[in-house]
Amino acid sequence: MTGVTGVAGVPATAGEGAGTAAPDAGAPLVRVRGVHRTYGSGRAAVHALRGVDLDVAPGELVALVGRSGSGKTTLLNVVGGLDRPDAGSVHVDGTDVATLDAAGQVRLRRDVVAFVFQTFGLVPVLSAAENVAVPLRLRALPVADRERRVALLLRLVGLDGHAALRPDELSGGQQQRVAIARALAGSPRLLIADEPTGQLDTETGLAVMALIRAVVEAEGMAAVVSTHDPVMIGLADRAVRLVDGRVLPA
Ligand SMILES: Nc1ncnc2c1ncn2[C@@H]1O[C@H](COP(=O)(O)OP(=O)(O)OP(=O)(O)O)[C@@H](O)[C@H]1O
Ligand SMILES: [Mg+2]
Repeated sequence: MTGVTGVAGVPATAGEGAGTAAPDAGAPLVRVRGVHRTYGSGRAAVHALRGVDLDVAPGELVALVGRSGSGKTTLLNVVGGLDRPDAGSVHVDGTDVATLDAAGQVRLRRDVVAFVFQTFGLVPVLSAAENVAVPLRLRALPVADRERRVALLLRLVGLDGHAALRPDELSGGQQQRVAIARALAGSPRLLIADEPTGQLDTETGLAVMALIRAVVEAEGMAAVVSTHDPVMIGLADRAVRLVDGRVLPA
């Protein structure tokens, strides 16, 4: 543990306590079965995923590894509902992600899954605090509660002194920490991070990965993090290796 304390004390949704036990405790949070995803067709077809099975338990930090082109981003997008499999099933928190309608996808991304990307994806004209507040604006949360939660999240990622700065006034590592704080704002049950340290130097990348490790423990969420870095992999509970769109047996 790196001294990170949870933010569960400040609910992300008005009238709803964070950290409520799942109705089916003991079941995997993520359950992927026989997932195929092919881009294009005919001779140009690329079989990005060829029958992937994956379980992720609540509270587990899984490193997703594999060579460039092995299907990591495709799998993360399918798990998070950004993309649909051509075959197979994807359940997250008991919901069949592959068959969600548009409203269901919005709910999934607002309430269950949060993404962190290699390129941070912050809104350039907003301050760090305003970026973190974006997911909370989708909720009926009183302004004072929202501000309290944003302050807590920025403190959690060690940026309480940087609340008013815009992304271009922050270093890469600081921007990624803002992105992690934003991802945590809605108390997701699953954090999906696609090479979150890919644009950072080794030391900063390690600090960001250690932060992810710490917030997963503090918040009790699960995380799937794709990475090429062996040191990052060492911080995970388990590594899942993709080779040409298939999971290598453990
Ligand atoms: N939108 C797309 N259209 C066509 N082919 C795609 C598309 N996205 C990915 N692919 C192909 O699917 C395969 C898997 O790509 P994916 O991005 O999932 O790999 P990755 O493991 O994330 O690689 P990297 O480590 O470089 O990020 C690759 O062969 C890629 O070229
Ligand atoms: Mg990728």
